[in-house]
Amino acid sequence: MEREVRRVGVVGLGTMGAGIAQVCVEAGFETVGREVEAELAERAGARIEHFVGRKVEKGQLDAQARDQALGRLSLTTDLGDLAGCDLVVEAAFEDLAVKHDLFRELEAAVAGDAILATNTSALSVTQIASVLERPERVVGMHFFNPAPLMKLVEIVRAERTAEDVFDTAYDFAALLGKEPIRCNDTPGFVVNRILIPLLNDCVRVLDEAGVSPEDLDKAMRHGAGWPMGPATLVDLVGIDIHVHASEALYDKLREPRMAPPPRLVRMAQAGKLGEKSGEGFYLHNRD
Ligand code: 3HC
Repeated sequence: MEREVRRVGVVGLGTMGAGIAQVCVEAGFETVGREVEAELAERAGARIEHFVGRKVEKGQLDAQARDQALGRLSLTTDLGDLAGCDLVVEAAFEDLAVKHDLFRELEAAVAGDAILATNTSALSVTQIASVLERPERVVGMHFFNPAPLMKLVEIVRAERTAEDVFDTAYDFAALLGKEPIRCNDTPGFVVNRILIPLLNDCVRVLDEAGVSPEDLDKAMRHGAGWPMGPATLVDLVGIDIHVHASEALYDKLREPRMAPPPRLVRMAQAGKLGEKSGEGFYLHNRD
């Protein structure tokens, strides 16, 4: 690795952040996870414990390895506790103003040469980095949902990303057991540039063809070999996240297929956000 990463920070412990923190501790990295409220941090801790624990129950991990992995995780609400981190992955709310505030605070909290990575899926990494004194330390590390299971990490080179920062992020993703790819700071990077309009087409077909989400999912699983159907996938990603990413892509590329289908916008407005709210295309058990 270009630079040694010993201690990792993860900021924002929602679905993605918790998954990323899980991957880090499982790969042997001391990890500090930060949430804005203690209760949210505890919820993420419980989620990580649950999924690492399932591996023991299924005979994929021994109890000692589980305890060691969980022992590497510390949770905090204080950004100051990330001071000793060599690399921080930000996985907070997808809002430029929120990220700007956070990155300014992060830059003040961490060492001068610490790497600041963003897991943004829809915003420009260059724009996120623009408020920093040292934007060359910022790189995109875009994980996929569910982060512990999906192998790909898009390593995104922003306009000012330093070469050693980029290489370190790439090597770090490989040390996490992931399959990194090198990409540029273009709208949707690689996967979302393709997947988002594709999922939007799938949702439009629901109405055009008058089929049910169940039949659409069955069609794409058994007719196109997808591991999960599009309605299930959008529920997993989060309707709000998908709508936001679609809007961001449409904003930049102006292709009609990028625009979120009205059905999804209505669902987002109604709080039908998919798995995380208990209802999307399907009803989900939140226990
Ligand atoms: N976090 C952590 N661990 C999880 C998890 C999660 N969210 N979900 C499941 N697991 C663990 C569980 O312990 C589970 O075992 P259990 O059910 O016995 O407890 C174990 O992983 C295996 O889970 P599954 O049996 O569900 O695993 P599958 O073999 O069925 O594969 C899948 C699941 C990998 C998710 C597969 O269905 C798949 O590849 N789906 C497509 C996902 C995809 O396309 N994601 C990309 C979305 S786009 C995106 O993220 C971009 C963003 O910018 C919007």
